Formats: sequence, C-alpha cells, structure tokens
Amino acid sequence: MKELSQLVSSIPASVTLAVNDKAKALQAAGHDVIALAGGDPDFDTPAHIIEAAMNAINNGATHYPAPMKGINPLLEAIADKMKRDNGIAINPKTDVVVTPGAKWALFLALAAIINPGDEVLYLEPVWVSYPPMITLAGGSPVAVSLPSEDNFRITADLLRAKITPKTKAIMVTNPSNPTGRVVTQAELDAIVEVATEADLYVVSDEIYEKLVFDGRSHHSIAAAPGMAERTLTVNGLSKSYAMTGWRLGWLAGPANILKSAIRMNSQTVSSAATFTMHAAVAALTGPQDAIAEMRDSYQARRDFMVKAMNEIDGVSVRSVEGAFYLFPRFPNSDKNSLQLAEALLEKAGIAGTPGIAFGQSGEGHVRFSIATAMSELERAVERLAKVAGAL
Ligand SMILES: Cc1ncc(COP(=O)(O)O)c(C=O)c1O
Repeated sequence: MKELSQLVSSIPASVTLAVNDKAKALQAAGHDVIALAGGDPDFDTPAHIIEAAMNAINNGATHYPAPMKGINPLLEAIADKMKRDNGIAINPKTDVVVTPGAKWALFLALAAIINPGDEVLYLEPVWVSYPPMITLAGGSPVAVSLPSEDNFRITADLLRAKITPKTKAIMVTNPSNPTGRVVTQAELDAIVEVATEADLYVVSDEIYEKLVFDGRSHHSIAAAPGMAERTLTVNGLSKSYAMTGWRLGWLAGPANILKSAIRMNSQTVSSAATFTMHAAVAALTGPQDAIAEMRDSYQARRDFMVKAMNEIDGVSVRSVEGAFYLFPRFPNSDKNSLQLAEALLEKAGIAGTPGIAFGQSGEGHVRFSIATAMSELERAVERLAKVAGAL
C-alpha cells in the first residue's frame, strides 16, 4: 500500500480527549473515577433552546440551510450580539459564517490566511488543538512561552522576540484554556501594538467570553482601534450556553477573508446543522439568565477549590479569572506532569490533564476542569488531601 499523508500522521491526537476517554473507560469498567479532564459543562442546555430545536425539526428544518453559511435570522442575531456584547460592527451578509463548532471556525480562519511556510504565533500554555491546526493549514506553529512565575502574562517583548519576516498571524484565547487568565488592558495593548507594527492577522478565540469572574469585563481584540481589519473573531455556543454537543460556532471578520472561509466551508462540511441554527437564534435572542447562573456556579466552585486545594500541603493553585479550569502545581513532587496525572489517576482516581499537553510552559501543572458538580469537586479535594504527600 502507498504511504499515508505525512502531514496528517505528524499531528498528535488530542491529549485532553484521550485522558477523558481513559477516565470514561475506567468509569465504565466500574472504577470510581472523578473526571476532571474534559471541557464539557455539567449543566444541561437551557430548556427554551432545546424547545426551539424541537420546533424547528417538527417544522421541517431538516434540509440544507439557506444560505449554507447560516440562516439569515442567525447571521443577524450574531451581528447584533457582536455589536451589543463585543463592540464589533459586522455586516451579517458578508462578514460571518456559521460553523459546526468553534473548532472548525478556528481552522477556517487559519486556512483562509496561511500560505505554506507562514509562521503563526500562539501563546503557551496553549489549548491543545492550536499547533496541529496551524500545521494542517500549512503553517508553522511558533510558541510564545508565557512564564508560569509571571502568571502567564503577555508582554510586547515576548511577542516581538518570536516575530520573523515569515510571521503571519497570532492566535489568542481569551479567557485562556488552560490557564484561566483573562487578558488585561495592558496585555491587549501589547497584542494590538505588535500585531499592528508587524502587520499580523489576529485570530481571537472568545469561546469562554461569558465565563469571566468577579465582575470583570471581557474585551474583544477586533473592537480595539484599527484591529477590525486584521482580526478574525471566533465564538460559539458550546461553553456559554452548555451546548458542546450541538456543534455550533462562528467566524467573523473582514469580508475579503470571510469570502475564502465561506468557500472553504461550503467545499468541506457544507454547513452547520439547520435545526441547530434555529436553536442558536433562540440562544442568542432569548433570555440570558442561564449564562449568569452557570458563570456564578463556576465562580463558586473556583472559590471552593482554590481555597481547599491551597490548604493541602504539596498543592499550590492560583485563583483564575475566567473559563472553567484550574491549573495547579505540586511543588514538593519531583514528577513531571505526565507522571503526576498518572499518579493522580492511580492513587486518587482523579483524572486531570497533564500540563505538558499544553506545551512546555505548562509543565509542572495539571489541569482540572471545574465544569463538574460541586459534590464531585468535594470528593476530589478529599482524595487529593490523602495522596498529596505521596505525589
Ligand atoms: C480554547 C477553545 N477554543 C475552542 C474550543 C472548541 O469549541 P467547540 O466545542 O465549539 O468546537 C474549545 C473547546 O474546548 C476551547 O477550549
């Protein structure tokens, strides 16, 4: 048989999904595993959104959507949402495409701007899928390592140090998975400054936008002066509305780039699911109180976990500003993050994601998801207290 694709074989499998699968398999085999490795909210999708999908199916929204890039009420609802929440003005007719999940929107964004050999900067610790996506789109991923000692702060100097004539774009996740950091005004200014001086595109992943704590606000990069023309904004319903399984996201940005992204969407996946688009209209235009309720729960879980974990000798965790992950370290242990994650699973039945999955600057950490019921988190802390000395 002839050789398979070298490009695709060079891509690692997603470690987060692998750890999650392992935890689920152990659970299915009867082991009492507390699964803190995934990124799936434990809440149910709000009832009015489910109802809208049911109605859409019953009313015949079971065919291809028209237009394929998204039904008009949804394109308009996204444009209204972006204006209202993000201060970004987009033309719903030309500047947005609806995708099956934010992940595909990220890939479309990269595919639309990258030529072979272009370098794309990403901030490390990085969400696991960015480097493989850059590679698959024909680019070269370049890590900007943010030091844990400086609470993963983004500075213009760190970004500038990685710029070469081949640098094409920078990917930013705000709030960050896995660090839970929310970009400050100074960090935003640094990104804007470097992107402008080096003439870079910015891919701004705002999937955790609604999950910011302690009354903080989220600031979109495309809303900063001069940035709309070079920024591609990715968002979706997965995290804010507890709709991971619905696969609904979008990509918004300048019409010339969206033209390519829409063409690629139509020649690959064709579209997101039609009735899901109707549900998305209900999500974006209906009552928003469920978002605040979920955010407040995540914040309460964060408060509990940060306090309880820091009371355990051998565990150190920073409070987080957004998203739903904690990124503890185990300062008395000489194990690396893979060994730590193994030991946590074996000794305490806790499934977390090894920090190295998020790049070298995640080493020494393990990521715990707090998108898990409080009762499970309480059990996790009890178990952690028992094994921390032996990690
Ligand atoms: C930073 C980040 N971006 C994008 C996604 C993917 O979102 P979706 O499920 O809508 O494809 C995730 C999911 O974990 C994520 O953590």
